[in-house]
Amino acid sequence: MKGILVGLGGRARSWVNCSADKDIEFDAFVEPSEAQKKSFVEQYKVPEDRIFSSLSEAIEKSDAQFVMDITPPHIHEAVALEAFEAGLHVIGEKPLSDDLNAAKRMVAAAKKAGLVHMITQNYRFGGMPRTTHRLLKEGVIGEPEQVMVTFFMSWADSPGSHYVTQPYMLIKDMGVHHFDLLRYILDRDAESVLAHTWNPSWGWHKGDASHTAIFKMSGGLIATHHALGCSKGHRTTYNGDWHIAGSEGSITWEGSQVFITHGHKTAKPGREEVKLDVLAEDGQKSILTEFISSIEDGRAPECNSEDNLKSLVMTFATVESAIQQKFVDVAPMLD
Ligand SMILES: NC(=O)c1ccc[n+]([C@@H]2O[C@H](COP(=O)([O-])OP(=O)(O)OC[C@H]3O[C@@H](n4cnc5c(N)ncnc54)[C@H](O)[C@@H]3O)[C@@H](O)[C@H]2O)c1
Repeated sequence: MKGILVGLGGRARSWVNCSADKDIEFDAFVEPSEAQKKSFVEQYKVPEDRIFSSLSEAIEKSDAQFVMDITPPHIHEAVALEAFEAGLHVIGEKPLSDDLNAAKRMVAAAKKAGLVHMITQNYRFGGMPRTTHRLLKEGVIGEPEQVMVTFFMSWADSPGSHYVTQPYMLIKDMGVHHFDLLRYILDRDAESVLAHTWNPSWGWHKGDASHTAIFKMSGGLIATHHALGCSKGHRTTYNGDWHIAGSEGSITWEGSQVFITHGHKTAKPGREEVKLDVLAEDGQKSILTEFISSIEDGRAPECNSEDNLKSLVMTFATVESAIQQKFVDVAPMLD
């Protein structure tokens, strides 16, 4: 399958590396920055005349079936709409957009065109989430009713990037990974959220780099997300540490280990480390497999944009709650 790769920054390069042994070929590239073009040509020995300054030109001069969009979030809508107009499927980096209305327009355009539109929420394709999702379905801790996620990281510590200069970036950029994980692992959607954000005095982000958010999820489950993006002390992994509490015990993520604990006298107490499921491919590669097979099978992929809107809206609702300082309902924001 031939594709056009749009945006040749840092993340795009990991996609080029990851697609090397997949059944796809990038037949054209789009990048407006001369410096990025030059460094990409040097790194990948791509013919310079296959790198175009606009998507329109690349579409005209290639016979691609899909577009991979690795541009910054405010560009995603323009790329997707142009691709759909040209009849091309789209796989795009998270977040779907930095604007909720733009995200809704993209979802509507994909549906209208009848094309695949997948968002690369790579975290959920990892071994810890896949194994935990299976264990919860098997009922190893009974019905989960409360989840606590903690995340401590020296996050985005290069000066000048939009992660550092724009407001609420920890929620918008990192939060979308964890909120999508909550939806996937628990098979539930967010109904409302109460959030408070603040900025530690020693931090380097202009916007608030700390928050606690309480989500009321479907089925009455409560999930809290507590994050510090300018940690100078103990760090979690990028997945965060998790405590999922159910009627019969807990599943915890402690660093890169997963444990099942039965700690009450009403059952035989015990704590065991879980051997993670062996996955056929690593997270990023399995996203490509899912995208390609969904096109071949004529079905919507996991993380299709319509579904992904429900993860994205959690970031917007969290920010809205932090501004309003009260619970915000999620469903009306999807209308
Ligand atoms: N899933 C993950 O774990 C993960 C990790 C890193 C980045 N990302 C996402 O990937 C996307 C890109 O991030 P990045 O770190 O590579 O950013 P980047 O700034 O390094 O690269 C973006 C590139 O897009 C180019 N660009 C800008 N406007 C364009 C346009 N109109 N057409 C074509 N190219 C254009 C820029 O010149 C730049 O080279 C973002 O949405 C980001 O959130 C995801």
